Amino acid sequence: MKKLSTVVLGTGFMGRVHTEAIRRLGNVEVTGVVGSTPDNAKRFAEENCIGRSTADFRELLSDPSIDAVHVCTPNSLHYEMSMAAMRAGKHVLCEKPLASTEVQADEMVTLAKEAKLANCTLYNLRSYPQVQNMRRLCESGELGEVLVVQGTYSQDWLLYDTDWNWRIESGPSRTFADIGTHWCDMVEHVTGQRISAVCADLQTFHNTRKKPKGPVETFAGKTMSPSEYQTVQIHTEDFGAMTFRLGPRARGAMTVSQVAAGRKNRLFVEVYGSKASLAWNAEAPDELWLGRRNSANQIVVKDPTLVCGDASRFADLPGGHSEGYDDTFKQTFRRFYHSIANRSAPIEYPTFEDGRRQMRVLAAVLESSKKLVWVAVKD
Ligand SMILES: NC(=O)c1ccc[n+]([C@@H]2O[C@H](COP(=O)([O-])OP(=O)(O)OC[C@H]3O[C@@H](n4cnc5c(N)ncnc54)[C@H](O)[C@@H]3O)[C@@H](O)[C@H]2O)c1
Repeated sequence: MKKLSTVVLGTGFMGRVHTEAIRRLGNVEVTGVVGSTPDNAKRFAEENCIGRSTADFRELLSDPSIDAVHVCTPNSLHYEMSMAAMRAGKHVLCEKPLASTEVQADEMVTLAKEAKLANCTLYNLRSYPQVQNMRRLCESGELGEVLVVQGTYSQDWLLYDTDWNWRIESGPSRTFADIGTHWCDMVEHVTGQRISAVCADLQTFHNTRKKPKGPVETFAGKTMSPSEYQTVQIHTEDFGAMTFRLGPRARGAMTVSQVAAGRKNRLFVEVYGSKASLAWNAEAPDELWLGRRNSANQIVVKDPTLVCGDASRFADLPGGHSEGYDDTFKQTFRRFYHSIANRSAPIEYPTFEDGRRQMRVLAAVLESSKKLVWVAVKD
């Protein structure tokens, strides 16, 4: 069987994670990589045994043998790169957040539809077996009516004013765009209900930060001397809090933070139903807490034979064998490439429409925080 050919745009954290996960599929080959400079691209290509490298993504797009493109670059480049790839007839997987504005996201959804191309926004955290388990448990009625959803997405890697990353200067939102949208996508996916209105409060604790004069990579955590940085004004939030309406009756509250000392990547979600409750923490992804009022609570350990319904299809390993963050990419990509090979296959991954959905939630959050009012989310 002929392998599908794909290229990866970006050689940082996600460039590496995507490359590895694509290779685990077996039926897709990474034939090219695009970096911010020819040297970056070449280094990545050599380290990962990739045939072609360039700093000009359009060069690879003109090759008709390439089927798909992974956009793993900073947010401000997603729109331009994805649109160019689709215009060249390539299927596109784009990292989150999908675009810089809702208008851009609209255009991306429209073009993908018109060109009949497979399109994915990497809300990959949906593909954890226990997240699928939560979704099936909600669908099955085990929880009763969903009443309340709570949680947080907390990290500490931007706690100090000497911490720096391109995200700090990327668009009007940082923490909410970067990780809050993951949380909101998960809640909508798990409950099957939509966030319909938000009351949000965003806060920037560091109004200035020390920006390095050279480039730094995500989660680098380096300390600098004064000659290596300049002090710049900051306009993106370190923290956000949001209460929200979910569907017709449910209510929710969440916080999002990149200044939570000791919290490395704590996505925590609790779903409280009229009969039972669920709680899940991405830092211990194989475990799901199931709460009941009149019987003992349970910790359900990931085991394909014990999860609800067909959530087992997202678990490749037997019980007791951990499946983590990188596996969520493999599971998402497998379904994406299956839908390329079989264009009538059901879409079992987050699409550009889902990416646009989170751009709309984000727009409402920004407006709410700015005006200090509740804001309805565009449907
Ligand atoms: N789905 C997830 O769980 C997840 C996790 C982390 C990041 N992300 C998303 O992935 C994207 C990349 O984030 P990251 O953490 O990998 O950042 P990163 O800084 O580690 O990597 C970005 C890479 O893009 C490269 N780049 C910059 N301009 C370029 C250009 N013009 N052409 C080619 N390459 C260019 C940089 O050199 C760098 O290698 C972001 O949109 C981010 O939101 C998603």
